[in-house]
Amino acid sequence: MKGIILAGGTGSRLKPFTQIINKHLLPVGPYPMVYWSIFKLKDAGIKEILIITNHHHLDSFKELLGNGEELNVKLHYKIQTNNGGGIADALLCAKSFINSGKFVVLLGDNVFEDSLIDSIEAFQQQAKGARVLLKEVKDPSRYGVPQLDIENKAILSIIEKPINPPSSYCVTGIYMYDQEVFNYIEDIHPSSRNELEITDVNNLYIKKNLLKYDILQGWWIDAGTHESLYKAFQYVNQKSFKEGFN
Ligand code: G1P
Repeated sequence: MKGIILAGGTGSRLKPFTQIINKHLLPVGPYPMVYWSIFKLKDAGIKEILIITNHHHLDSFKELLGNGEELNVKLHYKIQTNNGGGIADALLCAKSFINSGKFVVLLGDNVFEDSLIDSIEAFQQQAKGARVLLKEVKDPSRYGVPQLDIENKAILSIIEKPINPPSSYCVTGIYMYDQEVFNYIEDIHPSSRNELEITDVNNLYIKKNLLKYDILQGWWIDAGTHESLYKAFQYVNQKSFKEGFN
């Protein structure tokens, strides 16, 4: 299976740092943020990884990570021409890299504790469709929020940044897809924030009854704000100093 790390975007909530540096290169503990996504994929046996970023920051990523040899992974790079076009728009850039088969997508600003091994294994068992990872959070309105039928372990719908969240869970930036995703992306339209929303894609999978989920048990952070970046730093350092650095 191949992996994709989305590392573009404007990082507007982390200004002034992000005026000169890509959000995913900011420090989280002893490593730049993007390293943690690479480690998670590598730990789950995924070593063929595409990093999608914007044209301003491509050289910084290449200078830092090169072809991935030092981390024992194989890295490829793509530019999202429409920077700020949304997660689904970024994914389209990966079509030729993926070529065939299922794959995993990580938003590079999601830093988390759980291993991906079990979910990826469960996804391998799925004949087709997609799989997302959920996390219970205090402030679901910041995220994509699922309406759940827990008894039947089903997601009924997902609402992006709802004023009245239908559950206390959020859909994290950890996604698994089959090839159909590229057709679904062609079917959606830009949202009110002018992005191709991954939530719209996931809702198309739900309509076909093909979206499965798992729930993260450990800590999870979308490190896209100053406050959450600070928290990610604390979590990672606690774990790293206890268990040794990766
Ligand atoms: C994006 C997704 C949202 C998801 C979140 C996870 O939000 O649109 O559904 O819950 O990532 O980090 P954004 O970071 O674009 O606000």
